[in-house]
Amino acid sequence: MTTQEFIGNPNFTIQSQTVSESCPSNIALIKYWGKYENQIPANPSISYTLNHCKTNTSMEFVAAEPFSVQTFLAGNVEVKFAEKIEKYFKNIEQYLPWILKGKYIIRTENTFPHSSGIASSASGFGAIAKCLMVLDEMFTGKTSEEGSLRKASFLARLGSGSACRSLYNGLVVWGETDEVENSSDLFAVPYPDHEIHDTFKSFNDWVLLIHEGQKSVSSTVGHGLMKTNPYAERRFQEARENFVPMKEILKSGNMDQFIKLVEHEALTLHAMMMMSDPAFILMRTGTLEVINKIWDFRKETGLSLFFTLDAGANVHLLFPNNGTEDKIKTFIEEELLQHTQKNGVVKDVMRF
Ligand code: DP6
Repeated sequence: MTTQEFIGNPNFTIQSQTVSESCPSNIALIKYWGKYENQIPANPSISYTLNHCKTNTSMEFVAAEPFSVQTFLAGNVEVKFAEKIEKYFKNIEQYLPWILKGKYIIRTENTFPHSSGIASSASGFGAIAKCLMVLDEMFTGKTSEEGSLRKASFLARLGSGSACRSLYNGLVVWGETDEVENSSDLFAVPYPDHEIHDTFKSFNDWVLLIHEGQKSVSSTVGHGLMKTNPYAERRFQEARENFVPMKEILKSGNMDQFIKLVEHEALTLHAMMMMSDPAFILMRTGTLEVINKIWDFRKETGLSLFFTLDAGANVHLLFPNNGTEDKIKTFIEEELLQHTQKNGVVKDVMRF
């Protein structure tokens, strides 16, 4: 697989346009943590795309003005983000040769709280890549729905790795693995629907906001720490190996094994950070209390409530819609919500 198919069409006619797109966030089950040059992941990952947690973006392109980028987040000027996008646009010029030939005014809004730690870079870069592909089609006159989505995923990856998975619904894989046909390090692919047991198609993700505020390690720094982590190679290998049972589990519908694998992945991500130099402990007291309560609850009731974590303290509570969800929701409200900072919870479902 090469980047050749994504090289941009040199024949284009630009004009001033405003386009709007929205893109959801996603939550990884097998985690991406560690990367090489040009946003190539050190291991394959698989995620669920969320439904309500989205970024809505409008992009105004003013043709023939000197290249510049202005960004607004929820109506407020964001200089740092604009600088990041400027750098990003310069970086992807070979794929969109018209991209530096105008001025941009980008307005974005997230449907979830900024402090929630829900990956706004995934939905944010996903939405920007979609806007760029709409402009590209207008300027080059080339349309191919499948090709355009794939290129949007390719471009989103160059903004933020996990963003490339947000372009598709359902379960989505990024990173080459023998277990998933057509998988690639360059873009994400939807996990084949007929390989997914119905039990995994209607799922909840409630995010407990244990700690709101700035993360103590950015993902850029976090990925970088894997370069010197003595356990990194073993971790990358394990993530690759985990695709074998994951594939079987998704097909058979074995919930117990699914839970075990997903929680193991989350804890491994945090273990990697604890073993980095410098070390980071991103869990808070509330994170540990919630995890222990989930384990006790599962032991007592046998119900399928489990967790995953991102690179932060907040806990993603995962549970299927299989008739037991009301009991689980009551438990969350009565027992787990008290461990959040301000009774904060974002209630989402997987988007299929
Ligand atoms: C822990 O995609 O945010 O959420 O490529 O540097 O932008 P960059 O990193 P990013 O890393 C996400 C890491 C993760 C796991 C995952 O989503 O797979």
